[in-house]
Amino acid sequence: MTRVLFVCLGNICRSPLGEGILRRMADEAGIELVVDSAGTGDYHVGELPDHRARAEGIKRGCDMSMRARQFRAQDLVEFDLIVAMDHANIREIRRWHGNNGNVRLAMSFHPDAVEDVVPDPYYGSLSDFEQVADMLEAACKGILEEIASGNRLDGAD
Ligand code: 4NP
Repeated sequence: MTRVLFVCLGNICRSPLGEGILRRMADEAGIELVVDSAGTGDYHVGELPDHRARAEGIKRGCDMSMRARQFRAQDLVEFDLIVAMDHANIREIRRWHGNNGNVRLAMSFHPDAVEDVVPDPYYGSLSDFEQVADMLEAACKGILEEIASGNRLDGAD
């Protein structure tokens, strides 16, 4: 079974939305996946997602009852695919945990991305959360299609 881990900084805004959306899509498609999320920082460990992320996810039919945890080296071994929201997330993973594992930007799965990163909405407004969730809906659709097609997930030819 394919295992996918979403990673952002705090694990309370972007990555739990990615987790909730991909799990919902996999359920709807009848595809069995392991989906989880983690943050490179430890500021919010044990917390529910930010109330704005919860509201946005629940509105879209997602379970948003996950709790924040910090990324750990073992994740690079345990997950087939690690989906990072921005370049800083990837730098932190590499800095602490080395240059292994299959780490890709979420937006690399978006079919018509105009930006390469999912922007941090923490200091933003509700509409920023809505925009992040829209980006993640498209990215998750791409992830699921790539998994369902049986393609390699590392982006290599
Ligand atoms: P996230 O957003 O990385 O999408 O979960 C953030 C949440 C909290 C903080 C920064 C970003 N923070 O600095 O506490």
